[in-house]
Amino acid sequence: MEFYQLIEQRESVRNYDPERKVSDKVLGRILNAGRLAPSASNRQPWTFVLVSSNEKLKEVKACYQRSWFQDAPHILVVVGDKSKSWVRPYDGYNSIETDLAIAMDHMILAAENEGIGTCWIIAFDYEKLAKAIGLKKEEVIYCITPLGYPREGYQKKGNKIRKPLEEVVRFI
Ligand SMILES: Cc1cc2nc3c(=O)[nH]c(=O)nc-3n(C[C@H](O)[C@H](O)[C@H](O)COP(=O)(O)O)c2cc1C
Repeated sequence: MEFYQLIEQRESVRNYDPERKVSDKVLGRILNAGRLAPSASNRQPWTFVLVSSNEKLKEVKACYQRSWFQDAPHILVVVGDKSKSWVRPYDGYNSIETDLAIAMDHMILAAENEGIGTCWIIAFDYEKLAKAIGLKKEEVIYCITPLGYPREGYQKKGNKIRKPLEEVVRFI
């Protein structure tokens, strides 16, 4: 799909078809888009945890109790390791969140290109999710998204509510 059109049409999907799993091939392409993302000093401090088994999905879905979330056939959890990400020497700023956000956005846009719906989620119960995925001591969860086909007949809203360009750009 044409890149600007893809950005224009992507929107958060909160309506998934629970019966329609995404093929391994398509999932692989989406995950690979995350792998190819840039990161500070190319540290790639991430792990992409893809939850697809019904048993694990049940456990993971308890971390975010919205009815639409319960329908997702896959959940992607973006995990980082702070000990592996780049740290700015003079003030200790750690690039982990930026690195993970870029990887997540690559996968979100790749999913859109495949006709797969996504929705960034950070308002989940951290402890529940950490336990469900067996998070390691050195790891942090940054964000999650369902991956799934929107239900048949689902209509995109198609009205991006965004500030005008003049308001968010400053030319100096
Ligand atoms: C960092 C981040 C966190 C978000 N967390 C949530 C969330 O916890 N639950 C939710 O339903 N949507 C969440 N969203 C989705 C936003 O509400 C949504 O992207 C925004 O309203 C713009 O709408 P659009 O994605 O349809 O363009 C999040 C988005 C981002 C970027």
